Amino acid sequence: MAHSSMQTVAKEVPVETGVDRKDRRELAKMLTKIVGSSHVLYAKVRGVHWNVVGPAFYSLHNMTEEHYEDLNTAIDDMAERIRAIGFTAPTGLSEMMENSSIKDQTKLLSTEDMVKELVEDHEKMARLLRDGVAAAEDVDDVKTADMLTERIGVHEEAAWMLRATIS
Ligand SMILES: [Fe+2]
Repeated sequence: MAHSSMQTVAKEVPVETGVDRKDRRELAKMLTKIVGSSHVLYAKVRGVHWNVVGPAFYSLHNMTEEHYEDLNTAIDDMAERIRAIGFTAPTGLSEMMENSSIKDQTKLLSTEDMVKELVEDHEKMARLLRDGVAAAEDVDDVKTADMLTERIGVHEEAAWMLRATIS
């Protein structure tokens, strides 16, 4: 038996919390880029977690676990923010990858090279988030600005920890 709730599809909804539709739409696009980039980074961090070898095995294995668990939570919060400001969140991996500024890891490199790449990726995330904060502040979306500001520090800290581990 067809149930009406099974036929509903998420769509844009009107939100009247003080940010214009046009501005919310731009923020949703920006959040989608951040969510897509975070998702690709999440997959790369797990790749290092699984494939790490060498003297820093134990610290890198555990550190990457903390990092991907944090990314998991953050991806969820930011995708849900897209819904809260009225728009639809990414539906799957293709949309995540199309919106990612982080390049996928398509082949296995040395642990050191993969960690170096993660350092650059975390720094790229910090820059992307900084642009996001500026865009959110421009339209007085303080909640989104607040959420993204916190993320900048997390990525800066991750870059520092990873860099220190291989130096
Ligand atoms: Fe694990």
